[in-house]
Parts: sequence; C-alpha cells; structure tokens
Amino acid sequence: VEETIQVGLGDRSYSITIGAGIMERIGPMLQAGGFAKRYGIISDDRVAALYGEQVQHSLRQAGIGCELIVFPQGEASKHLTTIGTLASSLAERGFDRGDGLLALGGGVTGDITGFLASIYMRGIPFVQVPTSLLAQVDSSVGGKTGVDIPQGKNLVGTFYQPRAVVIDTRVLHTLPHEEFLGGMAEVIKYGAAIDADFFTWLDMNQAAILALDAEVIVPMIRRCCEMKASVVEQDEREGGLRRILNFGHTIGH
Ligand code: GLY
Repeated sequence: VEETIQVGLGDRSYSITIGAGIMERIGPMLQAGGFAKRYGIISDDRVAALYGEQVQHSLRQAGIGCELIVFPQGEASKHLTTIGTLASSLAERGFDRGDGLLALGGGVTGDITGFLASIYMRGIPFVQVPTSLLAQVDSSVGGKTGVDIPQGKNLVGTFYQPRAVVIDTRVLHTLPHEEFLGGMAEVIKYGAAIDADFFTWLDMNQAAILALDAEVIVPMIRRCCEMKASVVEQDEREGGLRRILNFGHTIGH
C-alpha cells in the first residue's frame, strides 16, 4: 500500500507519500525531486542509531551526498542553543545554498530542522521523514517550525514548508507503545474536531490499528494528512481556521 497526497500552496506545493517500507527508497525519491545536491540528515541519537545508516545508504546509492548530524534525544533539545550548534556543524561541513536538510525523527527533530532550514543562509530546502506517529499525522505537515524558550513553547519559529514529506509506517514498529498511543490521541482528535465518520472508522478498526496493520495504518495516516493539508491550504499562517488543529494541544503540552 502506498498513497500520495498533495499540499497545494502554489509554488510551495509539495507531496506527502505514505507507505510501509518506503524509507528504503528515500534516495531515489529525493533524486527525482532534485531539491538539493547534498543533505544534512538531522536526527536525535536514538533515531539515528535505528535508521541513520539506512537513510545514508539509500541517498549515497542514488548518488546524493549526505552527512548525519546528531543531537541528544528529548524535548530539552528543542532550544535555541541546539539551532546554534547545528548551524555551526553545517557551516563547518561547508553547507551552502545548494544543499538541504532532511529531518529524520519525531516532532522535536522536524521542528528544529525546519527552523534551521528556514534561517541557515537565509533559507535552504528541507524534507521531512517523520518517525513518530504524532509527527506523521501532524507536525511534519504544514510548515510550522520552531523552538521553545523559558517563557513558552514554540514562541520562536517560522512558517516554512518542506519540499516533501515521506512517511514510512514500518518505523512505527520501533516506536515505544506509549508514543504510539500519544500519536493516536492526535488521530482521534481529527475525528472529534473534523470528521465524525473517521471517528467511527477508528472505533471499528481498533484491533487492526493496535496491531499496526499497514492495510489500516496507511489509510489512517493518509486521512489525517488529507485533513491537515486541506486546513493548511485554506489558512497557512493560522489567521483563524488552522486553530482547529490545535484542539487538544494545550492539555497535550
Ligand atoms: N500542529 C498544529 C498546526 O500545525 O497547525
């Protein structure tokens, strides 16, 4: 099963591809996209240990240069100091405006990679390869980036769209169960806030969802991304409607 949906934002439009095992093909996919000549793969130490090699191998096989740049796992890394450290790593490796970033990880990784991409050399391309369910159904889509400061979450950031989102549902098998359930809260939220039929569908498919059956997980994530894309297309910078996506986030934070 593989599904593709489009986020329609004029010349900043991009595709979201969802499938089981598609991370193995990330190299050819990025080569076809032609977004950058070399990628800085930004990942935390846990996800880098699981998937860093595979992604680097796929990119190199496709003739795309890459460097894995790792930061410590956890919310504490969603901080301006991490942005400074990562920017220095890119500069030391000679990253320029022809290069891009690849966010390999959960929400923290996507948010800091997107923020860094939006400001490094005044903006370089980036792609999202989300590895948590929460990032797959929410944070990797729609271009919100940022970090926390002592005064509040996400107070410093940008709206900056990725060039592509590649969602491999197979990685959910290595996601801690608690994290999977946290992501499911967000999935159920789409049902509660936007689509009652989807809410019922989730209820009917509980066993298959919990078993991570790709036949159900791929369409589930596709439907969430479709809803998110539709809202973002109508209100990219959260003038009004996009606030519907924040339903449940205050208590979640
Ligand atoms: N995470 C909510 C939004 O992207 O608007």
